[in-house]
Formats: sequence, structure tokens, C-alpha cells
Amino acid sequence: MATRMFEGKHHATLYQKYRFAPPDELKTLILDYLDKKKGPPHLLAVDLGCGTGQNTRLMAPLFKEMVGIDVSESQVEEARAVPGFPNITYRVGTAEKLPFPDGSVDVILAASAAHWFHTENFVKEAGRVLKPLGCLALMGFGKNMEYHYGNCEGRLTDIFNEFTDALLPYTSKQVAIADSALQEVLDAIPFPEKERVDNLPVTYKVPVQNAVGFFESFSMFQAYERADPTAARALLETTQRRFLEEMGDVSPEMELDVVLKYFCVLACKPR
Ligand SMILES: C[S@@+](CC[C@H](N)C(=O)[O-])C[C@H]1O[C@@H](n2cnc3c(N)ncnc32)[C@H](O)[C@@H]1O
Repeated sequence: MATRMFEGKHHATLYQKYRFAPPDELKTLILDYLDKKKGPPHLLAVDLGCGTGQNTRLMAPLFKEMVGIDVSESQVEEARAVPGFPNITYRVGTAEKLPFPDGSVDVILAASAAHWFHTENFVKEAGRVLKPLGCLALMGFGKNMEYHYGNCEGRLTDIFNEFTDALLPYTSKQVAIADSALQEVLDAIPFPEKERVDNLPVTYKVPVQNAVGFFESFSMFQAYERADPTAARALLETTQRRFLEEMGDVSPEMELDVVLKYFCVLACKPR
């Protein structure tokens, strides 16, 4: 049974507006791995838990055909609304039951998503649909994010950490798997060739209000908001106000640096 955390239209809109596309460094890392392990041509890639398609669009130019799959219709609807990517098809479906024949897929990707899948069923299904020497690339970023502006030093990061501490009661088992850089999934992949590349830091420059929109998109925040909408909104507003004050009473459009530390689990199916 797939986890249903991202069904709401509002959550999908937050995703499309505020989530970061994975960095080009990750694209290069994955392409190098594919070239080395499988070799070209890279024909069919599948992006699981594609959400609104940030990662799907980033990776699509590397492949002849790209299929984005997500269990949430709202997310897929947002993804389909982005024009200009003729080699991408989006489908509603689950990572545990894929609409592909045995041995037909070159690469399975998932960005900030594999922790939501049923680990055992997902790795079994991935093993079924991948071609011999086909690869898995599962990426994400740690909770050790940093926020920087001028001479604020670590104070913005401290405020962010207080925000996430307040959400701890709403942290699911799945988020804990993501926070462990997908260790459980890495352990369950039945291929001898598997590894994880850790700690690829990437800096994004965004307005404070977009950083706060990113916080709002966290599944833990969404869970808090469902449980106590008033308290959740107050937490978000207080966090934004504290950021702006710390930065010198700037406007919400002022840009700050958000540093995400990406990781990537890579694996190759035996011949
Ligand atoms: C945190 S979002 C990541 C979205 C996108 N990949 C990104 O990087 O922005 C996780 C996505 O996984 C989807 N998802 C969760 N469980 C799933 C499953 N079992 N099969 C397919 N998609 C799933 C959710 O609907 C959600 O859109």
C-alpha cells in the first residue's frame, strides 16, 4: 500500500512553486555512473515519485524517453502542466507495481521519494523491470541544511533548526529513513554493486518568502497543519519574522543562501 501524503492540490502547488530542482552536479554524477556501469545508449528512464516533475525535467535530456510516475494525481497534474518536454510522459501509479515488462528499463531514478516507497516491494519491482546492467539512482538531501545571509553566521540555521525541532512529533518513519540517507533502502537493494555518494553541498539563492514556502512543503509541516492549523500557521509566520529580523528587518523578497547537502544511492543490476 503506497503512502498517501502528497494528495492535496495545495501541497502539489507548494511543491511546484518552492521545491528545488536537484543540482547539475547530481546529473553529472548519475550520467558518469551510467556510462561506466551500463554504457550508452540510455534509452528509457523512469522517475519514481516524480511529484511535480522537477527532477524528471532535469534528467530528461539524458535519455531518449523519460516516464515520470507518481501515486498522487494532483502532483502529476502539476507536472503535466509544464510544457516543452516532448520526451516525457507522466503516469499516475506506484513504485511497487510498474507498468513495464521484465528487463525493459535502463535507469530508475527517484528524487526525495524512495523513503516513501515500500522498501522490499520497490527493490523487487526495480530488479524485475531493469535491464541487465540497468541502474538505480536514488537521491535526496539531508536535514542538515544551512541558511546564510550577510554576517548572520549560524543564526538563521539555528532558527531553522528550532522550526524543525517543533515538527519532531510529526516526523514519520519514512522521514527518518530519508534522514538516514536511505540506509534501509541501500541495505535492501539485492545487487552486489551498490554505493552511496554523500554530502554534495549545493547553494540556492532564494527570497526569504520562498525559503519559508519550502518549509511549508515539508510533509512534517503538512502533518502539523492538519493536526493544528492555527499553531502551524503561527509557527511558520514566527519563523519568517525571525529570519527577517535577524537579517536586519529586510523585506520577504530579500534573497538568502540555502545550502542543501545531497546524497545519491547508486546501484547496478548484474548482467
Ligand atoms: C517528497 S516528494 C518528491 C517529489 C519530487 N521527486 C521532487 O524531487 O520534488 C515524494 C513524492 O513521492 C510520491 N510517492 C509516495 N509514495 C509513492 C509510491 N509508493 N509510488 C509512487 N510515488 C509515491 C508522492 O506522491 C510525492 O509526490
